[in-house]
Amino acid sequence: MALILGLESSCDDTAAALVTSDRQILAQAVVGQNEAHRPFGGVVPEIAARAHVEILPDLVRTVLADAGKSVADLDAIAATAGPGLIGGVMVALLAGKGLALGTGKPLVAVNHLEGHALSPRLVDPDLEFPYVLLLVSGGHCQLLEVRAVGEYRRLATTIDDAAGEAFDKSAKLLGLPYPGGPAIEQLAMDGDPAAVPLPRPLVGSAEPHFSFAGLKSAVQRAVASGTYAPADIAASFQQAVVDCLVDRTRIALEKIDAPALVIAGGVAANRAIRTALQQLAGEQGRRFSVPPGWLCTDNAAMIAWAGAERFALGLVGTLDAPARARWPLDPDAEKVRGAGVKA
Ligand code: KG4
Ligand code: ZN
Repeated sequence: MALILGLESSCDDTAAALVTSDRQILAQAVVGQNEAHRPFGGVVPEIAARAHVEILPDLVRTVLADAGKSVADLDAIAATAGPGLIGGVMVALLAGKGLALGTGKPLVAVNHLEGHALSPRLVDPDLEFPYVLLLVSGGHCQLLEVRAVGEYRRLATTIDDAAGEAFDKSAKLLGLPYPGGPAIEQLAMDGDPAAVPLPRPLVGSAEPHFSFAGLKSAVQRAVASGTYAPADIAASFQQAVVDCLVDRTRIALEKIDAPALVIAGGVAANRAIRTALQQLAGEQGRRFSVPPGWLCTDNAAMIAWAGAERFALGLVGTLDAPARARWPLDPDAEKVRGAGVKA
């Protein structure tokens, strides 16, 4: 059994975790920075990077103490090396390199997206490769065929905004706090999902790509019209996102013969989305797996677990691993017409 320390700082959550290769989460801690960024309605990279520097060392001490372990007990150190806000990415990666150098333990430079992609396997031991993954977070909205650790084929991506970005922007239009996903989910509980006519961009199109910019603009018009209750707009928006995700994922499942459908990333914490995708998987005769909400949003347990999967296969890197703002899981994926250059 291997013991892995995971470190994460690629966006606005600072996190550390101790996970074993036999799926025990011995300790984990996440410190969010929502309050620091809230006045700006989104993440301010410099504020985030500075906060990571201040928080991470204490978190490492905390998880080691909670688990009754010392750095000498570690088999490897796994740190997110990208993609993300580069100033933040460097914090966990350099902390990981320092620990690796000081202890002589190997460093696993983890792709944050691989952390999300493999996270379901930490809590679902029966989930085997291959599977179709709907990866929905603040920066990404992709469908991937996960063939093995490190082997990903991108089936679809967004041509404009990510799903979480759509939640965050629409929440801002509704005057809700950042991050917008949980706030919209909460408000939507009191609303009618059929009250506001909103578009379902790209639904019905042959390739399973996503688009959310037009939906956000329609939310903007609905808010400006003064006609609708905010709860109805929230519920109708969430329903539109659900319909887009379900339709696009159905198209992908028709193309790929994998036994399981998996969702991961921060937006997968949304209960309406979980329920709808579970139902789709059932209809298509696929196994369904989604991690608990805390493992969907950013955390270090998923980074430690990706590190454990890589360590078991001997896929450890070297100490010169670079911090990367952009790092696609499928480097061979073709650019999609209209797709922006978001990380
Ligand atoms: O994976 P994550 O924590 O960070 C990234 O790697 O991006 O995802 C954050 C995104 C944010 O856009 C946030 O609004 C969204 O996930 N999110 C949700 C929910 N919880 C977080 N979106 C919808 N419903 C939720 N309950
Ligand atoms: Zn993430």
